[in-house]
Amino acid sequence: MLHVVLYQPEIPPNTGNVIRLCANTGARLHLVHPLGFEWDDARVKRAGLDYHELANVVHHANWQACRAALVGNRFFAVENPAPTRYDTPAYTDGDVFVFGQETKGTPQIVLDEFDSDRRIQLPMLPNNRSLNLSNAVAVIVYEAWRQIGFSDAAPIS
Ligand SMILES: C[S@@+](CC[C@H](N)C(=O)[O-])C[C@H]1O[C@@H](n2cnc3c(N)ncnc32)[C@H](O)[C@@H]1O
Repeated sequence: MLHVVLYQPEIPPNTGNVIRLCANTGARLHLVHPLGFEWDDARVKRAGLDYHELANVVHHANWQACRAALVGNRFFAVENPAPTRYDTPAYTDGDVFVFGQETKGTPQIVLDEFDSDRRIQLPMLPNNRSLNLSNAVAVIVYEAWRQIGFSDAAPIS
């Protein structure tokens, strides 16, 4: 199983998109609190998500708790800028991908925990600030899932 970590996400529709992405790919989503919005089931339902899509969402009180829960797994920080292109590493089952906040990215104090080969970036054209958070998650998850053979995917019909 792949793991997606959203560090203190701020914008509900982004988190909603990532919940659905994770449900469709079998990745587990970890939400690092505090969130920038109130989490409640009614809100989630209004966002059009099914309860089954929430089965794989784990909440963590803070970054340290998330780290501790996934100890032993390989962590990658997905950030812009970062020294390693996202398609360079060979990903394996259990890898963890950490994404930053929509307005502020990932705090430097968190990025400092990662070696340079564990800090990955999606290429962009010059003079662009960043991709939308949920788009960045989608590209990374599909690349990692592709590399591990789209494990557990339904047959293509
Ligand atoms: C909207 S971006 C952060 C915004 C950025 N700090 C800024 O001020 O332009 C939110 C998150 O999406 C991810 N992201 C966006 N574009 C990316 C890229 N080109 N490469 C890697 N991650 C990216 C990162 O995890 C980032 O923290």
